[in-house]
Amino acid sequence: MKNHDIVEKNIGLMAVLTIVAISFGTLVEIVPQFYLKETTEPVAGLKPLPALELEGRDIYIREGCHVCHTQMVRPLRAEVERYGHYSVAGESVYEHPFLWGSKRTGPDLARVGQRYSDEWQKAHLYNPRNVVPKSNMPAFPWLFDNVLTGELTGRKMAALRSVGVPYTDADIEGAQEAVKGTAEIDALVAYLQQLGTLVTQKR
Ligand code: HEC
Repeated sequence: MKNHDIVEKNIGLMAVLTIVAISFGTLVEIVPQFYLKETTEPVAGLKPLPALELEGRDIYIREGCHVCHTQMVRPLRAEVERYGHYSVAGESVYEHPFLWGSKRTGPDLARVGQRYSDEWQKAHLYNPRNVVPKSNMPAFPWLFDNVLTGELTGRKMAALRSVGVPYTDADIEGAQEAVKGTAEIDALVAYLQQLGTLVTQKR
């Protein structure tokens, strides 16, 4: 009781002790994460995105798809029934930056790969109203005209390699050739069609 009085009446001491308590709590929460294998180990079969899909991902970022769409199925029954298996950390180990998102104006896309045909995806991106009459998603018709040059694709891969994505020299050398002349829409659809396909479970 006596000691407690000292702490309560001495605001400086109380502040210091509060900071110590919070710091300790933070360490206990965060440090073990660095040693948890499942947050850094790729799920079985995970490979760095091939050149075309990597460019598709950059188009996804450029067009702001992540502003309306999350890529994070939470482990809640309603979500798993709607979208499929909840997202696991090992799926995102090669993602820089993450596209988990935080706002769902449209549905989550973490497991949208292979859910629709390429033709559906293209028709939808050309004008969502053509396939979903009440959709308020914007149209992206310019993706059908813009063509990739692939000039920077290899350098993007090299940059990702420097943060741990295992691209090979051959990947980097062949990158420009792999995407040059392809319409942006094809890159974006290639990216969408692989999303979340490594972790499967019946929906
Ligand atoms: C302004 C918000 C907004 C933006 C930006 C947006 N979307 Fe959407 N998206 C929606 C809404 C709302 C829906 C649901 C209606 C529909 O299917 O069109 C949707 C649906 C979808 C679907 C179908 C998902 C499913 O499970 O049925 C896909 C795929 C999709 N969007 C991809 C994209 C891509 C790729 C981009 C970027 C090029 C994008 N969206 C940008 C709002 C948006």
